[in-house]
Amino acid sequence: MSSATDVIVNPDTYLTGVPHAEFTRLRAESAVVWMDEPALPPWPAGPGFWGVLRHAEIKQVMRDPATYSSYEKATQIIDPPTDKALDFVRQMMLNQDPPQHSRLRRMLASAFTPRAIARLEDRITTWARELVDRVAANGRCDFAELAADLPLQTLAEIFGVPQQDRWLMYDWSNRVIGYQDPEYAVSAKAAADGSTDMAKRAMALRPQPDEHGFLPDQRTREGMPDLYAYAHDLAELKRRAPGDDVMSNLIAAGVTTAEFENMFWLFSVAGNETLRNALPGGMWTLLSHVDEYRKVKRDRSLLPGAVEEMLRHWTPVMRFRRTALRDTSLGGQDIKAGDKVVVWFSSGNRDERVFAEPDRFDVTRSSGDHLSFGDGPHYCIGAHLAKTQMRALFSAVFDRLGDVEPAGELVRLRSNFQHGVKHLPIAW
Ligand code: HEM
Repeated sequence: MSSATDVIVNPDTYLTGVPHAEFTRLRAESAVVWMDEPALPPWPAGPGFWGVLRHAEIKQVMRDPATYSSYEKATQIIDPPTDKALDFVRQMMLNQDPPQHSRLRRMLASAFTPRAIARLEDRITTWARELVDRVAANGRCDFAELAADLPLQTLAEIFGVPQQDRWLMYDWSNRVIGYQDPEYAVSAKAAADGSTDMAKRAMALRPQPDEHGFLPDQRTREGMPDLYAYAHDLAELKRRAPGDDVMSNLIAAGVTTAEFENMFWLFSVAGNETLRNALPGGMWTLLSHVDEYRKVKRDRSLLPGAVEEMLRHWTPVMRFRRTALRDTSLGGQDIKAGDKVVVWFSSGNRDERVFAEPDRFDVTRSSGDHLSFGDGPHYCIGAHLAKTQMRALFSAVFDRLGDVEPAGELVRLRSNFQHGVKHLPIAW
C-alpha cells in the first residue's frame, strides 16, 4: 500500500485527478508534512522534502525569500543534475532571489507599458472570438486544442514573434513541461511550411530522441538548441529593427541578448502551458457544474469572480519549490538548512481555514485570495494577462456557442506539477 504522500508525489496519480482526499486528510493533521521521494524511472530516488499544505504557511514561505530560496537549488522538486545545469536555470528570474531578481523584475514590469497592455487586451478579445467562430459551425471541438492557440498568439505579440512561427513555442513548452508524459515529451507540431527563416533554422536543430526514446534534458541549454537559436536570432532582430512589442521595450531598456534568450525560455513555458491548462480546466469545472455555467452565461458581471474561482478550484500550477537557507521552524516542524520545501497550491487553495466548503465550486464566492499565481516577489507577472485571456475566451464561448456540454472523456496530463488537460471534447 502506498502512503498518502507517495500518492501525491507519483505523476501517475494525476492521470485520474488531483488527490484532494489525501491532501485534505494530511492538511487536517498538520500544516507541513514530510514527503518521500521514491524512484520514479527515469528519475532516481531523492532525499524527500517538506510538503507545505495550508494557505497561511504557503504564504509565509513565498514571502520570505531570505529563508526559502528560489536560487539555491532552483524551483523544481528534483535538483538540476549538475552544477552547470544549476547555473543555467539560475539565469532565469524564476530561479533568483532578491536583490538580483528585482532588477529584471522591475525592467519587465516597466516594459509592460499601459499602451502595450491595452493593445494586448484588444487583440486577445479579437483572437478569442476568431478562435470560437472558426469551430462554431462544427457543433463540436476539442476545447484543449482550441484553447492552446490563445496563449500562443498572446506570447507571439509580447515577443514580436511572427505569428506564423508561434507553434514552435507550443512544442517547446510541451517538451519542458511534458517531460513526465511520453506524448508531450517529443512534441513537434510546428512545420517548416510558411514559417520564417529564423524558424527553419531552429527546426533544423531539433534534438532527436536517443535509442530509449528519451530526449536530452530539456532543462539545460543543450536540451533546447532550437529554442536558443530562435531566441538569439529574435533578439538580434529586435535590436536591429525594434517593434512595438514588450520585448523590444525590454531590449531598448538594456536587457542583454543572453538575458533575452532566458526570458524567452521562461515565458514560452510560464505563459503558455499554464493557460493552456487553465482554460480547458476552467471549462471542465464549469461543465461539471451546469448551474454555475448557466449563471455566469446569464449574468456576465459574475465572470471576473468566476475566473478566480476556476483558478482556485482547478489550480493549474500545483506546486513550486524553495530550499531552506537556515534552520527554521514552519507550521510546528523543524526545518534544517538545505531541506527542500515544496508548497502545494492545490492543497492551499482548498484550505478550509480560508475557503468555506472548499470543494464546492461556487462562482459567487470571493476566492481572490487563492494561491494559483503564487505570492511574494515571484508573484506571477502574467496574472493580469492570464485572467484577461480566460475572460475573453469564456465570453466568446457563451456568446457564440451558448450551452455547451462534454462530448467525450477528459484526458489529463501525467504530471505532478501542471494540472494539465490534453483533450476535452465538447459539443453544443
Ligand atoms: C493561469 C495561468 C498562469 C498560472 C496559473 C501561473 C502561475 C505562476 C506561478 C505560481 C508563479 C510563481 C512561481 C514561483 O513563485 O516560483 C508564476 C510566475 C511567473 N509567471 Fe505565471 N502563471 C500563469 C500565466 C502566466 C502568463 C500568461 C505569463 C506571461 C505572459 C506568465 C509569466 C510568469 C513569469 C515570467 C513568472 C516568473 C516571475 C518571477 O520569477 O518573478 N505566467 N506564474
